[in-house]
Amino acid sequence: MNVAVIGTGFIGGTLGRAFARAGHPTVLGSRTPETDAAAQDSGAATTTVADAVAHADTVVLAVPTTAVEELLTAHGDALAGKLVVDAANNITGPVAHHADLVARHAPKARYARAFNTLGGENLADPDFNGTPADMFYSAPESDRAVLDALITAVGLRPQYLGEGQQDTVDGVLRLWFALAVGQGRGRHLAFHTLER
Ligand SMILES: NC(=O)c1ccc[n+]([C@@H]2O[C@H](COP(=O)([O-])OP(=O)(O)OC[C@H]3O[C@@H](n4cnc5c(N)ncnc54)[C@H](OP(=O)(O)O)[C@@H]3O)[C@@H](O)[C@H]2O)c1
Repeated sequence: MNVAVIGTGFIGGTLGRAFARAGHPTVLGSRTPETDAAAQDSGAATTTVADAVAHADTVVLAVPTTAVEELLTAHGDALAGKLVVDAANNITGPVAHHADLVARHAPKARYARAFNTLGGENLADPDFNGTPADMFYSAPESDRAVLDALITAVGLRPQYLGEGQQDTVDGVLRLWFALAVGQGRGRHLAFHTLER
């Protein structure tokens, strides 16, 4: 798979470096590719947003929620046939319905929600004394293998919730905020599903 990560800040940089280090060809899409150092020594390439989208079959959105519609408007046609993985959150208001924006501006793209339910510290270091944090995600069934590979590349354990389950994923985000912030337990907090 060829993956593009749009946004090269805390989350985009963390994810893009992890994907590249796991061996997935990764391009970071930046507004300032000439000076952007987010790739570090990971092997990820850095280019413009348009070039990154063009060269990828999977496009991870790691930009502020306020930039999502602008991005989709500008690159909606180029996203046709590609998988959009939405990691963007609106932490000061209601969770944005980016899935609706993708359907409107990039109707030929597929939509997945992932990498948004935990503070970025846990994406950078997902290991809790030998136990990986779970990453709950929503995606079309046909894209499960892609998401499982990307989530595993970060060191997280994939937990598939089904197609169109972005509201359930965002419920996990609200749970994380309730505990980490609301209850003051701190950002180094994650979830691990138990079964028997
Ligand atoms: N921080 C967390 O713990 C966390 C966890 C999960 C999900 N998220 C979500 O992940 C997203 C990114 O968060 P972050 O913490 O990584 O923020 P950040 O460090 O501020 O990075 C944001 C990135 O988006 C880029 N960007 C902004 N507008 C853009 C546009 N129109 N086109 C292309 N790139 C644009 C910025 O580029 P410039 O340098 O050019 O401004 C920057 O590289 C947010 O939606 C956030 O809610 C964050």
